[in-house]
Amino acid sequence: MKSPVRLALLGCGTVGAEVVRLLHEQSADLAARIGAPLEIAGIAVRRIGRHRGDLPVDPALFTTDALGLIKRDDVDVVVEVVGGLEPARSWLVEALRAGKSVVTANKALLAEDGGALHDAAAEGGGDLYYEASVAGAIPLLRPLRESLHGDRVTRVTGIVNGTTNFILSAMHATGAGFAEALEEATELGYAEADPTADVEGFDAAAKAAILASLAFHTRVGAADVHREGITEVTAADVASAKAMGCTIKLLCIAARGADAAGRETISVRVHPAMIPLTHPLASVGDAFNAVFVEAEAAGELMFYGRGAGGAPTASAVLGDVVAVARNRLAGVRAASESAYAALPVRPMGEALTRYHISLDVADRPGVLEAVAGVFARHDVSIATVRQGPSGGGNGDAVLVIVTHVAPDAALAATVRELHGLDIVRSVASVLRVEGGL
Ligand code: NDP
Ligand code: HSE
Repeated sequence: MKSPVRLALLGCGTVGAEVVRLLHEQSADLAARIGAPLEIAGIAVRRIGRHRGDLPVDPALFTTDALGLIKRDDVDVVVEVVGGLEPARSWLVEALRAGKSVVTANKALLAEDGGALHDAAAEGGGDLYYEASVAGAIPLLRPLRESLHGDRVTRVTGIVNGTTNFILSAMHATGAGFAEALEEATELGYAEADPTADVEGFDAAAKAAILASLAFHTRVGAADVHREGITEVTAADVASAKAMGCTIKLLCIAARGADAAGRETISVRVHPAMIPLTHPLASVGDAFNAVFVEAEAAGELMFYGRGAGGAPTASAVLGDVVAVARNRLAGVRAASESAYAALPVRPMGEALTRYHISLDVADRPGVLEAVAGVFARHDVSIATVRQGPSGGGNGDAVLVIVTHVAPDAALAATVRELHGLDIVRSVASVLRVEGGL
């Protein structure tokens, strides 16, 4: 057995504590798989005194000097489970430049400044692994980064945020509104005290950037991702989706396409969308995550599992630790960042989408023609129209229109004009549609 591979663990919260536990419980197996034991050189935290008595680790290993720990000569691998942009960015750049390997779960940092980390890894010659940053326990980044490298990924569609999936699943199951479902998610510990990053789509957008970067060999940052959260999704939207045999999910979508000149582009977006109940992602309930990958030769692939939680996330972190430890012992490094394609990211207005629009209209001759005229003026083709009586008993009607695919800007302009039409009493619901209706 070779001499130990020494780890600096930065952070010992929800994920870090489970990393410590697994390192202890699996130590013999991990050593056998790596060919050398793993040893914790130190654990950086913010508050030494915080109760950690139940952790199977020497209390003397805790320190508040993260940078000092990273710089130690006896540290081979830095595992970052602190989160946030700074000081995590400075720590990891320092570690990578010094030739250490890094394992991180920090999606916010990777989406904001992944390039700086990859550059530092290239400079120092160590590995940078981050499987836990997207979809927790689900092995997803390694398949994109390695297994699918012989193929051409065309589209990635995913549910990558557990909190919002729990909320939308509850709204679908019970008919509850957003606020009520969020309250339930908070009570059950799914939503954080400040749920902004989840419900406004920031968390999913960071993950979308990471997925798109790997799928399309292009540096994609959080700023490139069109982001809409779920706070505007109403019980009426959910009921409208249900009436169409659909459900609403917060989707992350990264797809190849082409611009007007035929040049290859990509679009990366996060927004709520209606999907048919028959779509594989529709049955992903509770706080689970799932990602649907389409590739030219492989066809359709589906990845499903727990996207969050201490132990599931620690599983992904430990998988990366084993990989980088093996590489260090073998004196090799994993393939470096693949960003050679450098595809331009199309603005959302040019992304091709479909809309489901529900209108309360006056029920008299010429209404359908006037409504259809608005769609025609914006070059948006209608796929289906359904008319029924409005619930108000006032002689008005409800028109439910589903469009064919069109540029998002044309669809949005259509909706704006419908709002101004005097025969339209209200635009009750506007949702994007994915997955064929
Ligand atoms: P926690 O808030 O539970 O833990 C954060 C840890 O970092 C704590 O131990 C804290 O110390 C320590 N810390 C914070 N600031 C500093 C600092 N300035 N110096 C030293 N230590 C510091 O976070 P999580 O474990 O939930 O998340 C960690 C990372 O994993 C994040 O990037 C997150 O996005 C990612 N992740 C989390 C998932 C989850 O389910 N929780 C799922 C997937 C990814 P102290 O204990 O003293 O407060
Ligand atoms: N807040 C995230 C979620 C945790 O709800 O999925 C995992 O990144």
